[in-house]
Amino acid sequence: MSFYNSYPGFLYRQFLVCPPKAPSGTSLQGKAGIVTGSNTGLGYQASAQLLRHGLTHLILAVRNLSKGEIARASLLASLPKSTKPPVIEVWELDLADYSSITRLANRLQKSGINIDFALLNAGVANFNYTQTPSTSHESSIQINWLGTALLTLLLLFDLNKQAVVNPTRPRPVISIVGSETAAWAKFKEAQVSTAKGIPLIEVLDDKSHFDMGDRYYTSKLLYQLFFLELVRSHRPVSQGAILNIVNPGLCYGSDLHRTAEGAFGGILSGMKRVVGRSLSMGARTLVHAAVLAGESSDGGYLSDCKMAPFAGYGDGDYGRKVQTQVWKETVAELSRVVDMDKLLLPELYGVVGPSNARFMLPVSGTNCCLSSMSLLTDLCALPALDSMDNRYDVVESTCSGTMLRIATMLKNSLMFSPKFVLFNVRRHRTSARSIMPEPNG
Ligand SMILES: NC(=O)c1ccc[n+]([C@@H]2O[C@H](COP(=O)([O-])OP(=O)(O)OC[C@H]3O[C@@H](n4cnc5c(N)ncnc54)[C@H](OP(=O)(O)O)[C@@H]3O)[C@@H](O)[C@H]2O)c1
Repeated sequence: MSFYNSYPGFLYRQFLVCPPKAPSGTSLQGKAGIVTGSNTGLGYQASAQLLRHGLTHLILAVRNLSKGEIARASLLASLPKSTKPPVIEVWELDLADYSSITRLANRLQKSGINIDFALLNAGVANFNYTQTPSTSHESSIQINWLGTALLTLLLLFDLNKQAVVNPTRPRPVISIVGSETAAWAKFKEAQVSTAKGIPLIEVLDDKSHFDMGDRYYTSKLLYQLFFLELVRSHRPVSQGAILNIVNPGLCYGSDLHRTAEGAFGGILSGMKRVVGRSLSMGARTLVHAAVLAGESSDGGYLSDCKMAPFAGYGDGDYGRKVQTQVWKETVAELSRVVDMDKLLLPELYGVVGPSNARFMLPVSGTNCCLSSMSLLTDLCALPALDSMDNRYDVVESTCSGTMLRIATMLKNSLMFSPKFVLFNVRRHRTSARSIMPEPNG
């Protein structure tokens, strides 16, 4: 384990590192963002800081609407009277309920709001075993891993599209609040799953394996393993939304450990008061990840407003195997509620800017692609492309019928006169035909 992820590394940061505030000139005028779990704790503090930097439109995604409304009123009241009030909306989101997550994603898509960042902050640290009614999965696994993974994929799908259709805007950001405790997880459930040959989720749901001191750490690690597989091997579009994980450090004053009761709860809150940061200091890291870290944070892990090493679990052979298993089980679980092929395979997003057109084509097949390109240039009245140059990364084949559909769609959706078309093509995708959206959809 690296020093960074060790207990001494943690203590060093807690006592000697102070995450910087966003520079005073940071302006979020004209920007829109969404913060989950923003009625209290770090999410609330991050929302307050974002608004102080002039954020124009904020969506508070909360599981309890009345708590959300109270937070909204309090956030508005905290702003100077002289500033133009931002738009703050309260939307319902329960990460323990897949249908609530898909509803939020659909609402966002239909709203037409151009989102600059999504801060996926909501999470739990349950010290008691509880089951999620709709799935029977243990609650912290359901919320911190599976629910957050579903929300990530749905937002990624939407924000990827936004990134491509708005090529002149900075790429939108999806920042997920993780925790350095992921590196300390014992995660014994993985060994049980391997030894007995049963799915990991089944082991995690089994109450006899619930370790109250480890489950939160494990839930944060599981999300991290899912995230690593997503960004390294399964990301549908490379120039779409930026994804990063942010660690706020241990903070006192939030409701995170609300289920720690009695003497244990007292000791824990005393310990947090000594070692922990204030919420406003921790929230600086969330603000940094969502609106300041930018492209260089893509696919990375941020701590104290800097890039930092991931937990490292998946670095060895065994960890790598478990990481793949986590990915497969996430996909299998979420396939029960959404079309994972649609979410994960590359798709044509269309629309171009005057000089930097970006089309994402799930093309395979050099010959076919060359002819497709001439077909596209014909149909869309684009300047001819001389040849494939090394910007184009094309392999394998697809059918010309599909290409015709793509070309027709492009033609119908062109709003500008592009100077060139950049094909951004992924390798080793063979099922292009099945994922082509219908021309009218
Ligand atoms: N505080 C720390 O020391 C620390 C350190 C590292 C990482 N983190 C992470 O930071 C994030 C925020 O934690 P916090 O300390 O601010 O805790 P918090 O005060 O308990 O805030 C958690 C937020 O998540 C919401 N939430 C919980 N379950 C939800 C669900 N099923 N659906 C939607 N929203 C849900 C809560 O809503 P309700 O108010 O309605 O319950 C609350 O708004 C968490 O992801 C946590 O793991 C915290």
